[in-house]
Amino acid sequence: MKSIHLQIRFLVPLMVTLTVAALLALPLLDRMTLRWFSRDLSARGAMVAKTLSLAISDIEPNAKLDRLRGLLERGVLDERLVGIALCSATNQQILSTKGFPGSLTCKEAREIALQQNPRLELSSGAVHIGDFPVNPQQADSDRLVLLHDLSLPDRRSIDTRRYMIIFITVLGLAVAGITMIVAQLSWRGWVSGMRAILRGEGLVRPLLQTGGTSTGGDSAPPELQPLEVEIRQHLRELEDNLYREHGPLTPWDPERLRGLLRTQLRGDQVIVVSNREPYIHIKGKEGIQVSRPASGLVTAVEPVMRACSGTWIAHGSGSADRETVDEHDRVAVPPDTQDYVLRRIWLTEEEEQGYYQGFANEGLWPLCHVAHVRPVFRESDWAQYRAVNQRFADAVVAEARSDDPIVLVQDYHFALLPAMVREKLPKATIITFWHIPWPNPESFGICPWRRELLQGMLGSTILGFHTRFHCKNFTETVDRYLEARIEHEHSTISYQGEPTLVQSYPISIAWPTDEERLRWPAPSEARRAVIDRLKLPEDACIAVGVDRFDYTKGILERLHAVERLLEKYPQWQGRFVLVQVAAPTRNALEEYREFQDRIHRVTDRINQRFGTDAYQPVRLLAEHHDHAALMELYRAADMCVVTSLHDGMNLVCKEFIAARDDEQGVLILSRFAGAARELPEALVINPYHVEETTDALHRAANMPPQEQRERMASLRMTVREFNVYRWAGRMLADAGQWRLRERITRRVQRRAREGSEAMNA
Ligand code: G6P
Repeated sequence: MKSIHLQIRFLVPLMVTLTVAALLALPLLDRMTLRWFSRDLSARGAMVAKTLSLAISDIEPNAKLDRLRGLLERGVLDERLVGIALCSATNQQILSTKGFPGSLTCKEAREIALQQNPRLELSSGAVHIGDFPVNPQQADSDRLVLLHDLSLPDRRSIDTRRYMIIFITVLGLAVAGITMIVAQLSWRGWVSGMRAILRGEGLVRPLLQTGGTSTGGDSAPPELQPLEVEIRQHLRELEDNLYREHGPLTPWDPERLRGLLRTQLRGDQVIVVSNREPYIHIKGKEGIQVSRPASGLVTAVEPVMRACSGTWIAHGSGSADRETVDEHDRVAVPPDTQDYVLRRIWLTEEEEQGYYQGFANEGLWPLCHVAHVRPVFRESDWAQYRAVNQRFADAVVAEARSDDPIVLVQDYHFALLPAMVREKLPKATIITFWHIPWPNPESFGICPWRRELLQGMLGSTILGFHTRFHCKNFTETVDRYLEARIEHEHSTISYQGEPTLVQSYPISIAWPTDEERLRWPAPSEARRAVIDRLKLPEDACIAVGVDRFDYTKGILERLHAVERLLEKYPQWQGRFVLVQVAAPTRNALEEYREFQDRIHRVTDRINQRFGTDAYQPVRLLAEHHDHAALMELYRAADMCVVTSLHDGMNLVCKEFIAARDDEQGVLILSRFAGAARELPEALVINPYHVEETTDALHRAANMPPQEQRERMASLRMTVREFNVYRWAGRMLADAGQWRLRERITRRVQRRAREGSEAMNA
């Protein structure tokens, strides 16, 4: 419709222009036609005059007048000649034929004949006047005045004009018609091209094209491709400005995510699989208590599940977990709102030892983090890993209410599960998200079962990592160890004919609601509470670190930086305090126990070296903290220190940013955490470089409030917009496109089959 309007807008001026051109051209054409006729009549007149002149010269003088009259009367028998007059050299009319107007004198006739257009309007019609000497050799020769009827040229002129109008109209219509067709075609191309660009289908198209089932249609024409980059850039700049002024136009929130599920995924069932469960029931002194584990994965996926409902399958690891499930091992969670179902899987000690402690945490965890801890690969662990993956895959199949559920597989505990589910539910949409880094091919290559792991993961429909860098490492690893078709342009890997989209989806947190924020203490109150509880100096500069007690988190490097700060900038002695929360984790592993002991030892050493009875520079809180306690700490702090040696994303820094609605506080962030790519306004450091980290601590402690505000405001804008609903939304939107393509492909194939069956019948 819009294109028709546009064409009308285009055609109307075209038609007007043609009409004006015609109106200007017609008189010109008229004049030209008449000039041709005039010249023609002059030539004709000259001939007639010549013939008459010859005849006149033969007439004897005494018979002259009568003979002359007869001669001239015969001359006007020619229907085009209206009248003839014979004039003397002195313009006296000697005689004239009947049709010659009495009012026209020889003088007048001669004057008119000398004009460019010798035309005279008479009551009987227009005439052309020609004036010719009877004897051209004689200067005072008599003259013949010939009047030619101009009605014929006039009629011809009218005819010419009519033909011209018809010709111009037909030509105009033809031009307009052709223009419309061309405009329509190219407009469609442009519009669809533009739409494709604006919809970001440069990214989605790969989904539609893999497997040779391109839907054609909406692809941007090649001539638009250079424009694509520019338009995107402009749009991004505009968006950025808008966001800066008003915040995101349609923020990602639970409602939007639910809407996406309803519309693009037609309310299909969502099943999450992870090792760690979102709610753990534990037997305590006061009965059964519910606890939330310290896990970035749980922090991110739980709000998504609240929004989507569905089923979450996880290892039931709490001491009271069995007592709280129904006969199908299910329990509705969260305890207060019961938004979704948690299906617990029970593992034997051997299974947990081999699959979780062994293969996942002693093998894959150090393998992927490249944090200078040697990975251990045992055959027996591998066997358990496979068996447990199969058990969880069977649970997915059992929980599926249709043959094509959406399965969200979480993390390195389940590298084999995607292919196992795919085998039983070929139509399932399997989205695997790898929450930890992916190493380079050489590092990954030391795993004895590298091929099996890659094959298992390539059972996924979509495989997500936090950063493009991890996607690249994964693709290169596949390239090195498997025979697969890699389409870098489309970010797809096709293994045994089945495509997997490998894409980066930076994970995040749920932005706090107003309701939640109302429960937070004011920053000054939080500071007061923390100073009192931890007995910190009144003028303390408080740095917080919040991590699982894991060797990848750079806690040792952080302690070294604090020690160096107190050496290098002694003014901080007695004031600077690092409050380090270290949530207990994987204590069954020796590597972890040794690491934790070491941290305790280094902490003690620093405290002895710089501490007094009233002051300890490092407060190591090696215990679980709930969300409220962490919020209080974040709001009390002058800075938050994240020094991971390698981290998929790291959500602690995002939690800190979300907690600081006063726009104060400084974030120090390791460049080896995925988050550093999104949060450049932090003080980004290399944790291996003690001096650099030390200086960042000093700089943060001295940072003026205004600079803190500017940095924090910008960080908050990023985290608020790039929240966890966006993370899930983008993956699910891609999954929606995928399922649409699958359905279309199936329909097309079915119709083709039915068609050929009908032909054969
Ligand atoms: C990381 C992993 C998660 C894991 C979490 C806690 O964030 O990516 O999958 O749940 O650590 O570790 P844990 O072994 O206690 O589950």
